[in-house]
Amino acid sequence: MLDREISHTTRQKVFYIVLTPTAVGAGVFLLLGALTPLGALASAFAGLAAGAVFALFSAAGLHAGIEETENELRDLIDENFSETIYEKNKLETILRYMTDGTVAVDTGGNIIHANESARRILRMTDEDVRRKSYDDIILRFTDDLTLDTILYDLEGGDTLGSFSYGGATYDVSFGVFKDSYGKDGGVVIIFRDVTESQKLKDIQADFVANVSHELKTPLTSIKGYAETLLAGGIDDPSMAKNALDIINDEVDRMKRIVNDLLQLSRLDAKRQVWNMKEADVIALVRMAAKKQGVTAGSKRQQLHLFVKDRSFTLTIDRDRIEQVVTNIISNAVKYTREGGRIDVEVVRDEYWLYIIVLDNGIGISELELSRIFERFYTGNKARSGDMSGTGLGLPISREIVEAHGGNIVIESELGYGTRVVISLPIKPAEQNPA
Ligand SMILES: Nc1ncnc2c1ncn2[C@@H]1O[C@H](COP(=O)(O)OP(=O)(O)OP(=O)(O)O)[C@@H](O)[C@H]1O
Ligand SMILES: [Mg+2]
Repeated sequence: MLDREISHTTRQKVFYIVLTPTAVGAGVFLLLGALTPLGALASAFAGLAAGAVFALFSAAGLHAGIEETENELRDLIDENFSETIYEKNKLETILRYMTDGTVAVDTGGNIIHANESARRILRMTDEDVRRKSYDDIILRFTDDLTLDTILYDLEGGDTLGSFSYGGATYDVSFGVFKDSYGKDGGVVIIFRDVTESQKLKDIQADFVANVSHELKTPLTSIKGYAETLLAGGIDDPSMAKNALDIINDEVDRMKRIVNDLLQLSRLDAKRQVWNMKEADVIALVRMAAKKQGVTAGSKRQQLHLFVKDRSFTLTIDRDRIEQVVTNIISNAVKYTREGGRIDVEVVRDEYWLYIIVLDNGIGISELELSRIFERFYTGNKARSGDMSGTGLGLPISREIVEAHGGNIVIESELGYGTRVVISLPIKPAEQNPA
């Protein structure tokens, strides 16, 4: 419609442009005809004809030029228009699928745009986005990120803040955007969920603190006894032997901790070398139970083994699985009082082989149960007293069993006892643990 209007007006203009010189030319021709003799008339006519033709050509050229410009303009507008639409769609898609919450606010604090993530993070309804100011929304969570604070921080070059809500932590960054006149148009505020990385940072910090603590305890003891020896204890044979025995034990403990840590780091980095071979699991469990039977005996505990099969072969890393079974039985022995009872059983169905270790020991509370697979977690000291170790046995055991495609489940009742079930897949795993 617009096109047609444009070309109609243009054609009218072109019409006048073509006709006007022709009319003028004819007028001049008539005037000359009245005033001059024939020769002059002829040359005048020739001149006039050339002028008219020139005028006609110029008009035609002008017409074509206008049409061309008009087409070019139309193409340019079309191009700009589709580019704008493309950019708009692109931006909308990016914003929609961004996991970071993005809110654009004008200088008056009104929300111009809030993507889906921002709506989720800031629990905003459509109504909120339409009617509430940015400050109304953010003040539900924190006082530190109002528009004024943000603008003040931006002046100082500070572009990051954070807040926590409902167990989640968000890093908040912001930047000013300009309007088409180059003036401040508002602020874009981005909310990034950093809960997981914050948790990892906390775990890392705890881990370093725990390692330092676990190594410091034996070191302090070693240092103390070494000083006693140096201060003359060395001349008293019984005192010297006692000090050296303790030093020896403490060094063993440190060695165990360092070895456990190295093994965990290998497992974490998937650098553990697995020696996967066919091995008799029944013989392996029998051996582990026998070794722990010595400690159980010294605590006057009953340790019984229940197996139906004489032997049963699985493809496993024998030493690592023996390490797991030893860990679990030694826990049962350690956390069961004198005279208690520990039953070790091996059963299986079509798909799984189960190694079950049951004790009637001190048990684990529900709260502790949710944490016993954490590195260095040793439960309630008041409950397990001196018995508790480093808290690396279960986390390592779980890593090993999971690498074999199995799992460990622990059930317990405080004061009554604990049941640990190690499940190993019978059907060969599709892939051996890497
Ligand atoms: N059979 C059990 N009965 C009661 N508590 C248990 C039992 N097994 C584990 N626990 C609890 O779980 C905690 C973690 O066990 P884990 O084997 O990881 O560490 P640990 O025995 O303390 O030290 P480590 O095994 O590294 O020498 C223990 O400190 C203990 O509180
Ligand atoms: Mg243990």
